[in-house]
This record gives sequence, structure tokens and C-alpha cells, in this order.
Amino acid sequence: MSGARIIDGKALAAQVQEKVAAAVARLRLEHDLAPGLAVVLVGDDPASRVYVRNKGKRTTEAGMKSFEYRLPADTSEAALLERIRLLNESPDVHGILVQLPLPKQINPARVIDAIDPDKDVDGFHVINAGRLAVGQPGLVPCTPLGCVLLAKQARESLEGLEAVIIGRSNIVGKPLAQLLLKENCTVTIAHSRTRDLPAVARRADVLVAAVGRPELVRGDWIKPGATVIDVGINRVETEGGKAKLVGDVAFEEAKEVAGAITPVPGGVGPMTIAMLLVNTVQAACRQRGIDLPRELADLAGG
Ligand code: GUN
Repeated sequence: MSGARIIDGKALAAQVQEKVAAAVARLRLEHDLAPGLAVVLVGDDPASRVYVRNKGKRTTEAGMKSFEYRLPADTSEAALLERIRLLNESPDVHGILVQLPLPKQINPARVIDAIDPDKDVDGFHVINAGRLAVGQPGLVPCTPLGCVLLAKQARESLEGLEAVIIGRSNIVGKPLAQLLLKENCTVTIAHSRTRDLPAVARRADVLVAAVGRPELVRGDWIKPGATVIDVGINRVETEGGKAKLVGDVAFEEAKEVAGAITPVPGGVGPMTIAMLLVNTVQAACRQRGIDLPRELADLAGG
């Protein structure tokens, strides 16, 4: 029996994208506002190039302005900081995203903290992390926002549920814990040093894997009927020598046990870009002192 419902992240992302497009059309008409997103890529990491291209494409498809800056791999930190300073000052740019990872000579924390927090659509700035932690309005990281919407596809309400997040990164694990707390879950953040990780995972009604370890989470780590959200995107070689993408969850085993599960690819991945668009609209509205369009009221974080 393959019991789990497969949560279709691609379809949900398309719905979000449609709502963003409708919201943007109204902002242009009623407020003469075209939200603009600047994406900065330093170097030529092939995966990053694909992500950046997709972000630009989705941004323009939603009716927003897309600004792309491709800087050489040997760009100095000072040159990147100067680019960010210009983007912070530009009235046409409402959101700024510097694609990670950055080349070795550049300190990512210094770069992230140079971005105007109100334009930080990744939600990585320490000010936005703080705002999320204390419940003040801010910009919330895109992947955790997507995870919560995906979990809500499977369960009307997350209230009172046991949520276990495997992974404690600043980008996913920690902000997701804050969001799930806001949904009134009981939250555990587990990690590589957690004692008896399978037993901790088995407590979860909502299990999120965000560790970057291919197929770490096995079928017998999952409580029957649980909602499983797989954030991992790992490139592995098949026996035939071909590359394929797998998550942090052993999908074939897990889908026999879970109640609902996100696939890789086609789960969390598409939602991250969709939520980036929502964050850009939210940033643009705040900068202009406009209420968030009603289309996005249930989607935006912070
Ligand atoms: N690299 C991989 N994922 C992300 C992301 O969400 N934001 C940024 N800026 N870089 C990334």
C-alpha cells in the first residue's frame, strides 16, 4: 500500500504565483507601484546560475521588475558592498537578494547585514531574525514560509501538533521553529548531535527534514499518518552513473508510512521562489506605506 498523499508543491507554487500576479496588477493600477527585485550573483556556480535565472523569470512573469547583477568570481567584498549600497538607495528596487554561497574572499554575514532590512526579502538579516523571534513585523525567510503552507495543505490546522525539525540552520531550521510556534505547534529542533534521532523523529505529527543528508530519514523514523516536509535537495549518482535529485527523506519508504509527504523535486523547491515573490510585494507595500493586497493576506509572513 502506498498510503501517503503527495503534496504537490509545484501546483501550490503556481497558485501563489497567480495570486502575486493579481496583486501586482492591482498595485500597478491603483498605486502606480511595480515591485522590483534585484538578484546579485557572484561567480558562476552552475546551481546558483539556474536558481537566479528561475528567480528572474518568475519575477517578470508575475508582472514585477527584475534586476540581475552578475559579478565575476574574483569580485572583492568592498565592490559587492558598494553594489548593495546602490541597491539600498534605489527607489525602483524593493527587494535585494544576494545568492549564496559566496566566493571565499567574501564574508556572507557582512554582506547580508549590509542589506537594508526592509529590502531583505531573504529574511536573513539579523534584524529580521530578531523581529521574527519577538513577533514584530518583518521579512521572513522564504523556505520556512513555504514549508508552513505545504504542511497546511495536509492539515487544516497545525494547532497543538508535535513538530520536529531536523536541522538548525539560520536559513531554515531556526526560522521555521519560530513560524511553527506561531501556529501553536510544540516544536523540537533536532540535529546531528541529537541522541536517538529516529526516536525523536517518531514523535512528530509534522516532521521537517532540512539537513542536506541524502535519504537520512527512513520509513521507520516516521509516525504513521505524519505530515512529512522534505527540504533537502541532494544531487546523487544512480547506479547507472546518472545524476538525480533526492531529498533528506527516503521517499519510497516514507510514503508507505506518512499521511502526506512532499516529493523532491516538486515539493519545497518551487515554493521557495513563490514565497520570494510574496516577500517582494510585501517589502514594496511597506516601503510605500500601502496595505498588503488582500490576495496575499493569508500567504505573507511577519
Ligand atoms: N542559495 C540557496 N538557497 C538560497 C536562498 O534561499 N537565498 C539565497 N540568497 N541564496 C540561496
